[in-house]
Amino acid sequence: MKGAIFFSGKYGSTEQYAKWISEATGLSVFDIKDDHANLSDYDYLILGSSIIYFKLTMRKWAQANLSKLKGRSKILFSVSGAGPSEKLEGWVAKSFPTELLSQMEHVALAGRLDHTKVSWLVRLMLWIGSLINPDPKASKEERYGFDHVDRKSIEPIVKMIKQYQKHEVLA
Ligand SMILES: Cc1cc2nc3c(=O)[nH]c(=O)nc-3n(C[C@H](O)[C@H](O)[C@H](O)COP(=O)(O)O)c2cc1C
Repeated sequence: MKGAIFFSGKYGSTEQYAKWISEATGLSVFDIKDDHANLSDYDYLILGSSIIYFKLTMRKWAQANLSKLKGRSKILFSVSGAGPSEKLEGWVAKSFPTELLSQMEHVALAGRLDHTKVSWLVRLMLWIGSLINPDPKASKEERYGFDHVDRKSIEPIVKMIKQYQKHEVLA
């Protein structure tokens, strides 16, 4: 039984989490942009994706690779500004086919928004978004950025993976 982590991110926080999980578990880690790894080579998969504009950035890749992902995908970790909530679950549910999502545990991890790393157009969009966002905390974070990336938050994911690895040893 062999596992791997596949991630999709834009500004580095999803990659950071994926690498931390890899360090803690020994699983191989792949950016979906680099088409080196064959999903079929792995018995179980951990998927990690950032959320940009209310959608998982991994959604098109997941749809394109659905047949290989089904039956293998065990955990989805999302990385976002919004914390765990029904709203976030709704975005995830709209991004991934139900048949895939129903096989997975979803863990919501907190991301980072660094305004110096985004284009002026994105900064403008975020500023406009902050003006219409009814949530004062979210509005402030949209306007000024935030960094909630926390290595400790991967612990539940690492624990689940270690359970799969224990079964590997027993099998
Ligand atoms: C253009 C843009 C749009 C975003 N849209 C959302 C969103 O709809 N919901 C949310 O919770 N976070 C949103 N975020 C915050 C990102 O999810 C957060 O910055 C995350 O850490 C990005 O992951 P990455 O560093 O791997 O790209 C957005 C960030 C940017 C830059």
